[in-house]
Amino acid sequence: MLKPEIEDGTRSFADPAFRADVLAGLTRRPRAIPARWFYDRRGSELFEAITDLPEYYPTRTEIAILERIAPEIAALAGEGRAVVEFGSGSSTKTPILLRAVRPSAYVPIDISGDFLRESSRILSAAFPALLVLPFEADFMHPLTLPRTIATTPKLGFFPGSTIGNMTPLMAVDLLRAMRGSLGEGALLLIGMDRIKDADVLVSAYDDAAGVTAAFNLNLLERINRELDGTIPVDSFRHEAVWNDDRARIEMHLMTQRDVSFDVDGRRFSITAGETIHTENSHKYGPRDARILLRSGGWTPIAHWTDPEDHFAVYLAEAQAERPAP
Ligand code: TRP
Repeated sequence: MLKPEIEDGTRSFADPAFRADVLAGLTRRPRAIPARWFYDRRGSELFEAITDLPEYYPTRTEIAILERIAPEIAALAGEGRAVVEFGSGSSTKTPILLRAVRPSAYVPIDISGDFLRESSRILSAAFPALLVLPFEADFMHPLTLPRTIATTPKLGFFPGSTIGNMTPLMAVDLLRAMRGSLGEGALLLIGMDRIKDADVLVSAYDDAAGVTAAFNLNLLERINRELDGTIPVDSFRHEAVWNDDRARIEMHLMTQRDVSFDVDGRRFSITAGETIHTENSHKYGPRDARILLRSGGWTPIAHWTDPEDHFAVYLAEAQAERPAP
């Protein structure tokens, strides 16, 4: 794979997929750039900072739920399963689960190999007896897991309400792919953020300190850095809006005046008030969550929330198909 940010002394060569997504995203209407490009080094640091913000309730709420329910999960899952984490990233919530479940193996799956190896090393040090099998892959597609765990029953782990960053169509595709990868009889432990007061939701994605704004605007800085961009970043404003019809928070970058700029030698003009759509975070009520899981082939068997019902953790099972009705 081509590495981004390789200098030849005069200009940097960007990831061709980044270039293609940005050029296509700035050309289409409404303009939109895929959220995966947020996570360069600076973006990943800013994201870590988001999870510590007072307004950003999901991370700490989910961690508190996981700590509380871990013994119950262990009882329901039984011993000897292989824990498979989708998009493991820095694996911060994983130790809570591993301590309780005592799995026979742990398979972190992530598209970023460097990140994966680094966090696997840290985890192996903390759990010296655990078989850790890092797997560099795009988990959006069905995977053939390592042969060592082919016949081991699986426990999938997908925290962080990352499922909410996909449209329902993509979310169902992913759940079905996970079912295919983990096999019949597998369990899935998945975090989903709840629908709640729009004020609470909006401030979680538009904090007073401006960290989420910096995170969103960093995408424009990254385009300037890696794609020879001349975007006047100061002319854009971070915007988080609750789309009630689609039950999601949307993040946009809005121009405050008419702007013209170049990216990779191509000229773009955006009029004042127009936005570039950069992220979605879908929220699910109790029934929505259950229907979503069932649509993806997962039967909910238990769920837990915090006292305010701000965030929910579901345990679901890939049951054998039964003929309707
Ligand atoms: N899935 C989490 C959420 O939607 C984390 C996340 C993904 C996020 N992209 C984000 C948080 C952008 C803030 C901004 O809340």
